[in-house]
Amino acid sequence: MTAITCIDDLKRLHRARAPRMFYDYAESGSYTEQTFRDNCDDFSRIRLRQKVAVDMSGRSTSSKMVGLPVTMPVGLAPVGLTGMQHADGEILAARAAESFGVPFTLSTMSICSIEDVAAHTSSPFMFQLYVMKDQEFLEAIINRAKAANCSALVLTLDLQILGQRHKDLKNGLSAPPKLTLPTMLDLAMRWRWGLGMLKTKRHSFGNIVGHAKGVGDTSSLSSWTAEQFDEKLDWDKIARIREMWGGKLILKGILDPEDARIAADFGADAIIVSNHGGRQLDGALSSIRMLPHIVKAVGDQVEIHMDSGIRSGQDVLKALALGADATWIGRAFIHGLGAMGEAGVTKALEIIHKELDTTMALCGERHIDDLGLHNLLTSNGFFEEYATPQP
Ligand code: GLV
Repeated sequence: MTAITCIDDLKRLHRARAPRMFYDYAESGSYTEQTFRDNCDDFSRIRLRQKVAVDMSGRSTSSKMVGLPVTMPVGLAPVGLTGMQHADGEILAARAAESFGVPFTLSTMSICSIEDVAAHTSSPFMFQLYVMKDQEFLEAIINRAKAANCSALVLTLDLQILGQRHKDLKNGLSAPPKLTLPTMLDLAMRWRWGLGMLKTKRHSFGNIVGHAKGVGDTSSLSSWTAEQFDEKLDWDKIARIREMWGGKLILKGILDPEDARIAADFGADAIIVSNHGGRQLDGALSSIRMLPHIVKAVGDQVEIHMDSGIRSGQDVLKALALGADATWIGRAFIHGLGAMGEAGVTKALEIIHKELDTTMALCGERHIDDLGLHNLLTSNGFFEEYATPQP
């Protein structure tokens, strides 16, 4: 393979090296995948304003996310089944994030458990929570995240019911994979992946297996969510979770200005403008389109993060210029992980950091916190159509 210079290179390697069902799991949106495509397409429609002959020396991308210092405002988002893209994936990604100086968020649906990631890292990571019906399990997992000294709880609000991803059903997605003939033929070609998996004991949902009582088949994400996730989740329950947790709380999956106002009044430490990478409500607008509306509604009240569609440092810069305080990447680091393990996640972070730094310089900016609408060729930051979404 020639030099790796962009996230797309890592994506190609990820595709070649990870079993098809796991690559597809990462690279899917729900139903028609319209929102999944829009997330990236809408970024590509934003144009930047070039500035020349301004001193670009001494640039800095450092910033803060919920009060924590970061090398750049780009965190590793929670991604289910990360440890199936590469053996011990969550531990490797958490270590890469730690060395780079950006936050890592462990998914409830991870393969490596909270305790396992804590034992293999030295700085605190964040924990993403899905709210289960089983109260005992819910309290226990929050206490486990506290015991592991997690730096924030990231509560996902847009996945109490699973948006269907056709490929997952067709591929028979499960963790560990069920050894059907097509799966075995596919695995035969992914020897690197297989060798890694033979060397680790981490093959199923580490936060759940052995911790939740009386549940059915945990290997299948769709049956597990349908059986266990609490469809009654509402703001009262979120308030109870905040009490149980007692630490920093980030609300993920806000896409509507009215919800953003409720979240800001509620006193969240940050909100993440997100459509779950186009994996939930197919037909929702892209996160980057909704971002300016949410900034307008609550930008002066709450820290605003965004995810969904970021594949480059230019995308990060566009989100920050449109008013986000920070961003999160999912697939961009998962491609690195699937391609080359920990070194691949580091590579993904390096690529995005260099792109961000260079783009900042070419926009005539030296400090990341100075980015704003003046860096964009748009009068007010709003995309022309859909300018006034109905709350
Ligand atoms: C889980 O978070 C998923 O999107 O599959």
